[in-house]
Amino acid sequence: MPEAAQRKPPIGVFDSGVGGLSILKALQAELPHENFIYVADSGFAPYGERDQGFVLARARVITRQLLRQPELAIQALVVACNTATAAAIHLLRQDHPELPIIGVEPALRPAIALSRTGRIGVMATRGTLNSQKFKTLQAGLAEQAQFICQPCDGLADAIERHDTEQMTALCVQYTQAIGRLGTGPGEVDTLVLGCTHYPFASQQLQALVGPGVRLVDNGAPVARQTRRMLSSLAPESAPGECLLFSTGDPAILQNAAKRWLGLDVPVGAAPCGSGALWERRPRRD
Ligand code: DGL
Repeated sequence: MPEAAQRKPPIGVFDSGVGGLSILKALQAELPHENFIYVADSGFAPYGERDQGFVLARARVITRQLLRQPELAIQALVVACNTATAAAIHLLRQDHPELPIIGVEPALRPAIALSRTGRIGVMATRGTLNSQKFKTLQAGLAEQAQFICQPCDGLADAIERHDTEQMTALCVQYTQAIGRLGTGPGEVDTLVLGCTHYPFASQQLQALVGPGVRLVDNGAPVARQTRRMLSSLAPESAPGECLLFSTGDPAILQNAAKRWLGLDVPVGAAPCGSGALWERRPRRD
């Protein structure tokens, strides 16, 4: 980070794990001069098959920690997780009315704009698809397209572990469950990646569904929304910097950030050190 006197507070970004890096990538492209602090709650991932109370509690702990650090206190928060947005964003906004908080939800509207057949597959976690927030979103758009919703148990976890064999097996299983994919009448021609982990399986998915089927996520719109919510932008004198923290195995986040973002920074090597900031827990098998 630049010297404290001139440093602009970072934007906090968190997810259950490495998935939110897909949002961080879009944020860095849209806001290259801002500083970011990314928290992967990998020690408590996945969120998608947990109850909403658990996810809400984790979202509250992380938000409080991000606001509490005098060195790092954030200027805005991006909840880079569809599951946590659905479970917690309204309550986080209630808890912290002064903080701009931006969430992510499955990209149903962009998918409607792209689809020609009007049949849209939605891949997301069970937690997202069962949430009231998603049901309300879907109900409001039901006249405009037919949504085939597919809970993808285990897929975020496989991506988290970078288990490419399991990723491919689950992508096969879930795309088959969605039904006929293609650009012909009655076929699903657009696939919403409604979990921030899934863009990291887009190569496997695209190979399975063929080049005609569009994969859609909400990274770029979330980044644009974040820009609109900031009260000021960082000066363009220097590129922004990014700190990474994990509540789980730091190597998972470090490798993922390097692999997907070309970001080669040590996880937890920040002013207060991840061990002091975040409770660490070994991964569950
Ligand atoms: N990346 C998260 C999402 O967008 C959830 C993955 C998980 O922890 O299950 O929903």
